[in-house]
Amino acid sequence: MKKKILKTVKNIYHLFKRFDSDSRYFDRIREMIPELQKYKYDQKDYFIERAQEEGLNTLKEYHFFLKGHPEKVEQLRKHLTYSGSHFFRGEDWTFFTERVLSQFRNRKNVRVWCAGCSTGQEVYSLIMSLLNYVPLDAIDLLASDYNDELLDICKKGNYAIMHYHEIPEEYQKYTTVIKNRFVFAEELRKIIKTDNINLLTDDYPEGFDIILCRNVIKFFLPGLRLNVQKKFASSLNEGGILFLSYDDGNDDEMIEDPGKLGFRQISDRGIYQKATTADRRNRKK
Ligand SMILES: C[S@@+](CC[C@H](N)C(=O)[O-])C[C@H]1O[C@@H](n2cnc3c(N)ncnc32)[C@H](O)[C@@H]1O
Repeated sequence: MKKKILKTVKNIYHLFKRFDSDSRYFDRIREMIPELQKYKYDQKDYFIERAQEEGLNTLKEYHFFLKGHPEKVEQLRKHLTYSGSHFFRGEDWTFFTERVLSQFRNRKNVRVWCAGCSTGQEVYSLIMSLLNYVPLDAIDLLASDYNDELLDICKKGNYAIMHYHEIPEEYQKYTTVIKNRFVFAEELRKIIKTDNINLLTDDYPEGFDIILCRNVIKFFLPGLRLNVQKKFASSLNEGGILFLSYDDGNDDEMIEDPGKLGFRQISDRGIYQKATTADRRNRKK
């Protein structure tokens, strides 16, 4: 048994060594997708995994393969970052729901934007949490990503049963379990407007009371992150809320100088409020 484990470890080591000697081809693959220059994460490991999925052993082989398969290059471009998501992701949801969303109690209209929403788990988490304070017809919700395939899944609201445990019991009434899947009620799905928005290159919509953008900008280079945070500030109404992520001690998405962008930090885990004119006047006094 010990021998077998040792052999497997050795094999994996040699496989990665071989990939390691392929740096030149790593650069060539990156050149095929110019957008990658704006992202910060271990793209080499990512390419190695994709190459292995295609049954290939080196990045040289993978580069050659991509040259003959433009559709695979397009697929890589669409999945520049990890797109995994969970319902009620992060430890801050209780604080966010009870201390932040409660401020919207009985509002006739709440405009919300989930940016980089992936397959929609965050979108449904937000709708269900808001329903504690406002009726469904008060919620005006935009869900965006730069990948249409993910937006389609979000709109369908149909997920594998293995994720059902992520939905607290009090919210399970908004779902129906069908065999090994569960689906959100049509009334909830119906209010979701989706749009393909690239946060690095597109203009942003405006007039929001709440923006969620979690586990997205940590993949961007630091200078580009600041630019996105500034654009979110312009997209929010006065007093509007920005919810970024603070995951497992990773503070990459936090705003370095909230005051400079016109924000007040209301939790040390990524929740900010845009100052109102009255706040600014008081600060000057
Ligand atoms: C890890 S998922 C986060 C999903 C969700 N916000 C959450 O916290 O569970 C990252 C998402 O960001 C999207 N994304 C990456 N770069 C983007 C860009 N430039 N513009 C818009 N969306 C982007 C990806 O497609 C992916 O769906």
